[in-house]
Amino acid sequence: MASEIVVEGGVPLRGSVGVVGAKNAVLQQIISTLLCAGWHRLSNVPDIADVRALTMVLEHLGVKCELAGRELAMVVPEQISVEAPLELVRTMRASILLLGPLLTRFGEAQIPMPGGDDLGARPVDMHLNGLRQMGAELELVHGVLVGKAPKGLIGREMELPFPSVGATQNLMMAAVMARGDSAIVNAAREPEIVDLGNQLKKMGARLSGVGSPIIRIKGTRKLRPAAHRVLPDRIAAGTYAMAGAVTGGEVTITGCEPSHLRMELAKLEAAGCEVERGEGWLHVSGSSRPRAVDFATLPYPGFHTDLHPQMVAVLSVAEGTSVVTENLYDGRFRYVGELARMGADIYTEWQHAVVRGVDRLSGCPVVATDIRAGAALVIAGLAAYGVTTVAGVEHIDRGYADLVADMTGLGASMERRDSDRGGLRLFGW
Ligand code: UD1
Repeated sequence: MASEIVVEGGVPLRGSVGVVGAKNAVLQQIISTLLCAGWHRLSNVPDIADVRALTMVLEHLGVKCELAGRELAMVVPEQISVEAPLELVRTMRASILLLGPLLTRFGEAQIPMPGGDDLGARPVDMHLNGLRQMGAELELVHGVLVGKAPKGLIGREMELPFPSVGATQNLMMAAVMARGDSAIVNAAREPEIVDLGNQLKKMGARLSGVGSPIIRIKGTRKLRPAAHRVLPDRIAAGTYAMAGAVTGGEVTITGCEPSHLRMELAKLEAAGCEVERGEGWLHVSGSSRPRAVDFATLPYPGFHTDLHPQMVAVLSVAEGTSVVTENLYDGRFRYVGELARMGADIYTEWQHAVVRGVDRLSGCPVVATDIRAGAALVIAGLAAYGVTTVAGVEHIDRGYADLVADMTGLGASMERRDSDRGGLRLFGW
């Protein structure tokens, strides 16, 4: 049975909410355990659908995984399967990251080619080019990427045409066990890259410059399992900050790292919010009505594309007109039509949106098309008058362990219920 989230708007959020480990860090850190046999432990793990799906993939490969609370224990044997199962990985783009670790450790890998998704085409050319430069032979056979490197991978200098987060991570994991030295030039600098680097260093990998545009890696065959705490989820923290902002409420977010949200918090301040920050916490007070503010998504430390829809939900009720530029995904604006059904006045052309703030939104049935679109529609529902029902909750579950519990803990009038609206989506819901 599908679920939907029912939101009654108009209640200013007040109180405190905690965030746990980041989806965009933990998936890579689960995959990097494949680099060496033994007992690996991750803590601060979010209990989200993507973590459960990925641990099923690892189980299929022969890894024992046990998630107890926020602790994930994984026992990786000496020999595992190198063939990822199509049914489990087709919906999870992060599965392309299996390629680097499997090729570098076992000299072979078979991964179903990830397709496009709700954010657009999302190619993987940078992952494949880098691995080919390191000596891998890669062939697409009936939709499956078949990789071979019988003599192992060879360290190389690889220059990325764009600082791709995933390609940087895949090549880092491949290079730590390659023969010789590697460099990744124009590497992504996201905090999640740094956190993966920290985990790999605990495993004995030799990397320097992680978090800068040039990462240098000295290959070693001697890695060991490690325990690692996943860094806090900056997207979840930003989502709660924006929910507080749109309702004119006051929200304290704990367990977070405010320095990872510099640009996003600066934009909230420009929109009229008061933001206080300390070590591991953040306090956001919204004004009676947000002000318009322009922003453009960019690789870190720019405004994160995964907080773009939530910020547009805030700006849809701002005083004035905002111009938003999306530089990462051609499909990111797909949620705009749903916001428009709630009364938002948003005009999009190519990668730009002109958001003319309206006095208020009105609640109605809407459908989430991806994780962050779902969070944005929930935020819009908090600002709307009347009731909003958000379908497509399975997308939200991929990235938020329990968004409804977190929001109701802040006083939101919100519940999750079973829905029979699934079929209506075929007709454009
Ligand atoms: C990761 C995050 C995702 C976030 C994104 C950008 C995870 C699991 N996902 O995705 O939530 O939105 O970073 O911060 O961590 N590209 C290519 N060729 C490639 C690789 C990427 O053209 O080989 C393009 C993509 O289509 C996109 C841009 O580069 O336009 C950035 O993608 P990338 O940084 O690789 O994002 P992901 O690692 O897929």
